[in-house]
Amino acid sequence: MVAIQEVRRLQTTVDIAPTQQSKETRANWFRWITDPEIRQWMCGTLPTKPEEVYRWVDSATTDPRRHYFDIRLDNKPVGFINIRQDHAPSNTGEIGIVIGEKQYQSRGIGTQALDQLLHYARHTIHLTLVRALIKPDNEKSIKLFIRSGFIHTADVTIDGTPMLKFEKTLT
Ligand SMILES: CC(C)(COP(=O)(O)OP(=O)(O)OC[C@H]1O[C@@H](n2cnc3c(N)ncnc32)[C@H](O)[C@@H]1OP(=O)(O)O)[C@@H](O)C(=O)NCCC(=O)NCCS
Repeated sequence: MVAIQEVRRLQTTVDIAPTQQSKETRANWFRWITDPEIRQWMCGTLPTKPEEVYRWVDSATTDPRRHYFDIRLDNKPVGFINIRQDHAPSNTGEIGIVIGEKQYQSRGIGTQALDQLLHYARHTIHLTLVRALIKPDNEKSIKLFIRSGFIHTADVTIDGTPMLKFEKTLT
């Protein structure tokens, strides 16, 4: 709550906008996901070379099931949030989020971006169940999802990494 009040006190606007293929997006994503402090919280095989990251951006912005959004603070991208819609059933999906500009973490921006993505998931692509997979020691992310109504439903292992599965039914 304090964090959200800080965003409001600074009179800034947080919104999410569909990610566009651009030099700026490629450069930002490369900087964010190769940063060890951010990368430590992600799982799976992540690209490291610029051209691999660029291919990731291009595929993320063209695949209709991977809904990627810039998280913007006063129109400036500070991170991204996405929902990857499952193939079957297609009314479920998995959320990912990164506030890449680290000075803007812990200010309530993730909370506002997640609220907006959940609205999109429910009302635009009509999902009824969403999930997030979070490393057990990622305290900020766990708090973020619990605050938005997610419930810890399982412990899973992804590519050898233990993760907590959180889910939320969208009504
Ligand atoms: C995790 C992340 C998305 C959260 O977004 P954020 O804008 O930093 O988070 P918020 O400011 O909205 O705060 C979310 C919750 O974390 C808490 N929190 C914020 N900073 C914290 C800190 N340093 N330590 C512990 N809790 C913290 C907030 O109090 C809030 O919980 P509350 O609602 O119960 O009070 C962001 O920090 C981030 O991108 N981290 C690196 C990448 C990552 O971990 N991604 C998620 C992978 S699953």
